[in-house]
Amino acid sequence: MAHVTDYIRTIPDFPHEGIQFRDVTTLFADRDGLRLAIEGLVAACEGLEIDTVAGLEARGFILGGALADRLGTGFVPIRKKGKLPGRTIEQAYTLEYGEAVVEMHDDALHAGQKVLLVDDLLATGGTAEAGLRLIERLGAEVVVCAFVIDLKDLGGRARLEGLGQRVEALCAYEGA
Ligand code: PRP
Ligand code: MG
Repeated sequence: MAHVTDYIRTIPDFPHEGIQFRDVTTLFADRDGLRLAIEGLVAACEGLEIDTVAGLEARGFILGGALADRLGTGFVPIRKKGKLPGRTIEQAYTLEYGEAVVEMHDDALHAGQKVLLVDDLLATGGTAEAGLRLIERLGAEVVVCAFVIDLKDLGGRARLEGLGQRVEALCAYEGA
């Protein structure tokens, strides 16, 4: 049986020496690969009540739109600062070098909505935690954080589970 890892390409030494970059462009480019990813995520969320999908820029958008269509929900973007035209709330998070900020429209969700938060990859969990905090600040609830890849050694799963989250990932890799 085919697996998403069959379609994920590893690029050594990108963006820095010693980093094995897990490249999902090859997964997304292949129609069977993309379908495996979307169907895997749908299956991982089976039985959960989901009102809407929120995706993290940029690679989470590709999965999020397709997933929302499959689940019969809408899609809400969590964008890097400065891209959304309406009134926003923002959340800073820490990257390997420095800080970044993500934003949501302040009317993107309403209180009590049940949200599936999706991204391509879970590393330290900083990006997902920032998204989670924005969603919660709007009064909505994340029912599952779903990823294609979990970079196990970077601790993202433990970080999100420590915040009470359910974490789903279609595959895991050791090392950074
Ligand atoms: C990557 C990846 C996740 C995030 C994971 O995105 O797509 O969003 O890093 O890292 P973390 O768990 O340590 O926060 P990146 O910020 O490189 O941007 P992109 O998706 O816009 O390419
Ligand atoms: Mg990303």
